[in-house]
Amino acid sequence: MTVDVARYLAGCEDVAGRSANRLASGLKGSTILAIARQVKELQDEGINVRNFTIGDFDPKQFPVPEALSEGIVDALRKRQTQYPPAIGVPELRKAVRDLYADRLGLAYPEGSVQIGSGARPPIYSAFQAIVEPGDAVLYPVPSWNINHYTYLSGARGIPVVTSPETGFMPTAEQLLPHLGEARLVVINSPLNPSGTVIAPDQLEAICRAIVAENDRRRAAAERPLFLLYDQVYWQLVFGDSEHVTPVRLVPEMAPYTIFVDAISKCWAATGLRVGWAVVPPWIRDRMQALVGHMGAWAARPEQIATARLLADPELLGDYTEVFHGGISARLERLQDGLTGLKAEGHPIEVLPAQGALYLSAKVDCIGRRHGDQVLENEEAVRSWLLTEAHIAVVPFSAFGYPANSGWMRWSVGSVSLADVDAAVGRLRAALNQLTD
Ligand SMILES: Cc1ncc(COP(=O)(O)O)c(C=O)c1O
Repeated sequence: MTVDVARYLAGCEDVAGRSANRLASGLKGSTILAIARQVKELQDEGINVRNFTIGDFDPKQFPVPEALSEGIVDALRKRQTQYPPAIGVPELRKAVRDLYADRLGLAYPEGSVQIGSGARPPIYSAFQAIVEPGDAVLYPVPSWNINHYTYLSGARGIPVVTSPETGFMPTAEQLLPHLGEARLVVINSPLNPSGTVIAPDQLEAICRAIVAENDRRRAAAERPLFLLYDQVYWQLVFGDSEHVTPVRLVPEMAPYTIFVDAISKCWAATGLRVGWAVVPPWIRDRMQALVGHMGAWAARPEQIATARLLADPELLGDYTEVFHGGISARLERLQDGLTGLKAEGHPIEVLPAQGALYLSAKVDCIGRRHGDQVLENEEAVRSWLLTEAHIAVVPFSAFGYPANSGWMRWSVGSVSLADVDAAVGRLRAALNQLTD
């Protein structure tokens, strides 16, 4: 006999109400998912929405490296299907250390790498390993999801509002006054959502201040201050921009730095779930227990295939060139298109794309009219862009930035060059219909 479970669940809303725990029910829903639902509704009506909302890749445009897929299939055929070690398979941990030594000039010792299923478990477990309820977490906004990790660890967030003048990156001047009360500082570069990189002199000054603060805490036997440096997009940096790291700039940062990284963005492999933290070994030991209890390790075949590719980049063939070329061509085309609209007199601001898959652009239309409707706020502008220009973008307010700045994230991972051109054309047409 099959139990009709739906019948037994029906009418139990009171149970649901009484069983909600504070931690889970306090989590905020994602604005991006709400926008995705609106996009889907329009697409279901047959409208061709140019979708710049997704921080992910369309595999038809940006597939994962062929050698990665083959490596996974090969590992499966070789029955590599048991539990991986909770810290990750040895060949991947070694490949990550070698990558950091060869490409970032950072020779980490054995025992520094914690593998996880993407970058998220390393971030979550780093928070859980370091932050106590009531501690302060200092992070710039806009930023990706740090508010949620802060909330989940019972910490108090100190969001610092950055400005377009510094590419939405924090400056030493902004962070230094808060270091004394913080337990953890979180910096992401290249930055989601702005597609910009941190200025080396600013990161260096921040790191020197963290080291000085830790010297003080050491003398006072206080708990140290850490920096979580999220560099998941570091291999996607364009033009003259440079990716820098805390430990390379200030080696004394090594005991206090938690690197977070993944294959998700550098190989368009978001769904394969391989990421890692590179940390002092004593933090790795704590993260290992946390990741182990979550079971948030990456699948063994994916780990083996990733290790093979990291160890032998020749297997990638021309993948990196084609992939980077594709992302930067889209970003450039979008930047040029929007800058062209600005040159025509439209109220648009664009920041030069430096890294990741995002462009920061502001369509400054708050207060203008579309027919008899006034675009009263940023949400009205975003909604007008979607319904009139069929362009879907995410406002920076979804990343903790103050509402109504007008700045939006334009992600190019799921659009073609033709989509970019079409979007610019439609935006021009929509802007031409606005009145004061
Ligand atoms: C800045 C940043 N860090 C971490 C992540 C999470 O990466 P993963 O998918 O590997 O968990 C993302 C995903 O969008 C991101 O933008």
